[in-house]
Amino acid sequence: MSQRPRILITCDTFPEIIDFAREHFEVVDNQGQAQSTPAQLRERLQGMDGVLVAGTDRIDAALLDASPTVRAVSIAAVGYNSIDIAACNERGILASNTPGILDDTTADLGFALILAASRRIGEGERYLRAGRWKRWENDLLLGQDVHHRTLGIVGMGRIGQALARRARGFDMPVVYHNRSRVDAAIEQALDARWLAIDELFATADIVCLCLPYSQAVHHLVGAALLARMKPTAVFVNLARGGIVDEDALIHALRHHAIAAAGLDVYEGEPAINPGLLDLDNAVLVPHIGSATRETRVAMGLCAARNLKVGLEGGVPPNLINPQAMAHPAYRRG
Ligand code: GLV
Repeated sequence: MSQRPRILITCDTFPEIIDFAREHFEVVDNQGQAQSTPAQLRERLQGMDGVLVAGTDRIDAALLDASPTVRAVSIAAVGYNSIDIAACNERGILASNTPGILDDTTADLGFALILAASRRIGEGERYLRAGRWKRWENDLLLGQDVHHRTLGIVGMGRIGQALARRARGFDMPVVYHNRSRVDAAIEQALDARWLAIDELFATADIVCLCLPYSQAVHHLVGAALLARMKPTAVFVNLARGGIVDEDALIHALRHHAIAAAGLDVYEGEPAINPGLLDLDNAVLVPHIGSATRETRVAMGLCAARNLKVGLEGGVPPNLINPQAMAHPAYRRG
């Protein structure tokens, strides 16, 4: 009988995923442990056929070179900027992610941030808990309306579209920017109008980032785009921290060049730019876009299934890099 593939699950996960994985693989897990350091990860990958990672593990060329038995990398996330895909391609290593599962959950958080930043929810809670609420005041914590305001979505993929659907319930006109326009039928269904990015920043009352990270969009949102925003505007980032020049955002928030921001992602996360921490007009949450049990279980199972199919010599349903299968180094298993 051929040996079952060996896999490493680098992140804490739910029993459903461990059970599924144990049905198909020899599993080394990381339950209850702190995240591995890069050196520990290198050590633990020795002899593994596959690895299931969270977005916090960096998978780069040096790590792959030090782990020559690894044939498949599966990330339980939609964004895969933590994996060097070119390095996987050159080594015939399959890479897969979990698209389509977390769109609604992430769009829900997008709306939570839009509402919290616009209506000063975090600030209000801190005020109340600090015992500062003594009497009714006409202008206490006045915020921005959300309903009927123009929502500007940067990145009209699945998450952007889920956000646009929610905007209809708030009677919000939707404008969007995407490298290429989405199908006319989608634009029509969402009642969404394409704008150039600088026009979007000038037009929208609420700007929300929903685009994937790549070097091409590193610090895309900096002083120039922020300067185009209205002083009443709200900025939300659901995508990746590296798309935003945080110092420029902090400057805009501190000087009330924009009204507020809601952030789920940070350039150096989990480290936070200290300048953000003392801004009352920033709502900050720790990268919880997909964080409901249902969604995280579905993501984990999807990632484990991708690994199973890939390690059995098939094409994982969410394969990112078909090029790897055509590479001479590809090992079907
Ligand atoms: C979360 O950020 C993801 O990419 O799934």
